[in-house]
Amino acid sequence: MQTSVEKQNCGPCINVLQFLLICAEVLCDCTDHGIQIQGGNFTLTKELKKGSLLIYRCNDGYYPYPALTRICQPNGSWKPAPRRFSPQKCKLVECPDPNVMENGNVSPPEVQYFVGNETSYECYSGYTLRGSSKRICLPNGKWSGSTPICSRDSGSACPDPGVPPGASRAGNMFGIDDKVRYTCNGELFLVGSKERVCLENGQWTGTEPACYYKHTFDTPREVAESFGGAIKGTLTTTQSLNDTQEGRLIRISKSGTLNIYIGVDISESIKKEDFEKARDAIITLIKKV
Ligand SMILES: *[C@@H]1O[C@H](CO)[C@@H](O)[C@H](O)[C@H]1NC(C)=O
Ligand SMILES: *[C@@H]1O[C@H](CO)[C@@H](O)[C@H](O)[C@H]1NC(C)=O
Ligand SMILES: *[C@@H]1O[C@H](CO)[C@@H](O)[C@H](O)[C@H]1NC(C)=O
Ligand SMILES: *[C@@H]1O[C@H](CO)[C@@H](O)[C@H](O)[C@H]1NC(C)=O
Repeated sequence: MQTSVEKQNCGPCINVLQFLLICAEVLCDCTDHGIQIQGGNFTLTKELKKGSLLIYRCNDGYYPYPALTRICQPNGSWKPAPRRFSPQKCKLVECPDPNVMENGNVSPPEVQYFVGNETSYECYSGYTLRGSSKRICLPNGKWSGSTPICSRDSGSACPDPGVPPGASRAGNMFGIDDKVRYTCNGELFLVGSKERVCLENGQWTGTEPACYYKHTFDTPREVAESFGGAIKGTLTTTQSLNDTQEGRLIRISKSGTLNIYIGVDISESIKKEDFEKARDAIITLIKKV
């Protein structure tokens, strides 16, 4: 049964050896074999042609696994290649482990936390809580609110900087010039400052680190907030009520300052002409501003 299906798909039938030879001469594009996703869908930037970028989409609260995207390489194979024993699917979003909090309890204690899961935080007696006492795992793979920190007044120059979910901290001294270093556990990667130094003014250098999965993302609102008060109101989303990954709008007002950062994707999937169009558009935008 399976053999007959495969034969029908190959059109003008050529055997495998011929197929490989032809592909080596850069005639073949990628095939749609094995790229389908259970529970979601995908788009292709240039159909099945070389250089095409395949982008998977899942519903809110799910993420594409094992690949988020694939690219059609010049020899007609996908990178990463579809894996036969790990079919592409939409997986429930997971948040990093909050059980790294020191001097307190996390409830419920679980091995994994998924989107929608609620947690609450309590400090051992003698310690006081800063940050959120309740947090929910959000569809972007982050916990709501801020890192709960249980600390005791130790007379140190800087406050206890805490341990963000999924992280480990080295350094337990919070006096002037003391350093703390962070690493993220397992497959998580660190965003923010991996080292912070306690300053004379009682503040830590840098920004609080966070541990991201590959599927964790910043919402447009968070991006706007991280730019700081100056442009908080100018960089807004087209749907301001709820955050989505798409639809960003920059409002430029006549007074006040605005820093504009322009990023350009120069990866293989971008055609030369499209890149040039983008470059021209950026030049026009800069002139206009
Ligand atoms: C693709 O999936 C997205 C999210 O699940 C959905 O909004 C969209 O309607 C789907 N498109 C098609 C053509 O199925
Ligand atoms: C296609 O090219 C990539 C990188 O150039 C290589 O890793 C891969 O093995 C090639 N695949 C085939 C089927 O030749
Ligand atoms: C966490 O979320 C998962 C997925 O929705 C659910 O199966 C599980 O029961 C939740 N756990 C708790 C403690 O609520
Ligand atoms: C987002 O907002 C739109 C319109 O304001 C609404 O139709 C949609 O249901 C909202 N989605 C979520 C996930 O809240």
